[in-house]
Amino acid sequence: MSNSIVSINQLSKTFHTNKDQVQALRNINLDIQEGEFITVIGPSGCGKSTLLKIIAGLDLDYQGEFLLEGKNVKGPGIDKGYIFQEPRLFPWLNVERNIAADLNIRDPKVREKVDELINLVKLTGFEKSYPRELSGGMAQRVAIARALLRNPKVLLLDEPFGALDAFTRAHMQEVLLDIWKKNKTTMIFVTHDIDEAVFLGNRIVILKPRPGSIQDIVPVVLPIPRKKTSESFQEIRLQVVNEFEKIEALQSAF
Ligand SMILES: Nc1ncnc2c1ncn2[C@@H]1O[C@H](COP(=O)(O)OP(=O)(O)OP(=O)(O)O)[C@@H](O)[C@H]1O
Ligand SMILES: [Mg+2]
Repeated sequence: MSNSIVSINQLSKTFHTNKDQVQALRNINLDIQEGEFITVIGPSGCGKSTLLKIIAGLDLDYQGEFLLEGKNVKGPGIDKGYIFQEPRLFPWLNVERNIAADLNIRDPKVREKVDELINLVKLTGFEKSYPRELSGGMAQRVAIARALLRNPKVLLLDEPFGALDAFTRAHMQEVLLDIWKKNKTTMIFVTHDIDEAVFLGNRIVILKPRPGSIQDIVPVVLPIPRKKTSESFQEIRLQVVNEFEKIEALQSAF
């Protein structure tokens, strides 16, 4: 009996449009243990967002099996935090109210948790700031804090740092790892960036397109903090690059 938090068996997904149909995912098998940090990487259109949306409960129209803590998922919910590429904050609410959202910030328990999270995502001093006054990285940290306040079983992140400059992105990776070390929230993180996938993940799921399926799963057995310039880091990076080359070779054979 597995104690996986996410259990995916022979999962397939086909989109039906007026004109034709697109098989976005075919026969995905993936078991994720509680507390894992999974990064998902693959070329554009290989089904990364489709997979994440199914895990989020935002898309219930698939074939095969997907279980969260051994149970079927009937829809989205606070047990699955979802972070998009852009922060999607409420422009009329300040930072602390954006984090609290529908919860009452005057409730001492909520207040205490919001303060704790503001500290965790390193936004102390910006509690009363409005989204327009924040940088992209800061806004994304508000979105992460908002998701964490709900104590999600899994945090799903779809290229959350894609719009950030390289420097801010590196900083955000550190912040996220810090959060993961402290909270041990199970993370499923989609990225286009190989360095990011190796830096964050304890397993890298490499997807290939047409139809989206798993090319390989690369374990990353490196201590944290990781150094992107270290030899062991570069070795794993190369492993991922090699898999990408195999995918490209397959693509050009069409
Ligand atoms: N709502 C939809 N209707 C029809 N086809 C869709 C829909 N959403 C996605 N697709 C198709 O499914 C495939 C996978 O799309 P998906 O968005 O999951 O890719 P992705 O890996 O997230 O790509 P990217 O890296 O560009 O974000 C693509 O071929 C896409 O055209
Ligand atoms: Mg996508």
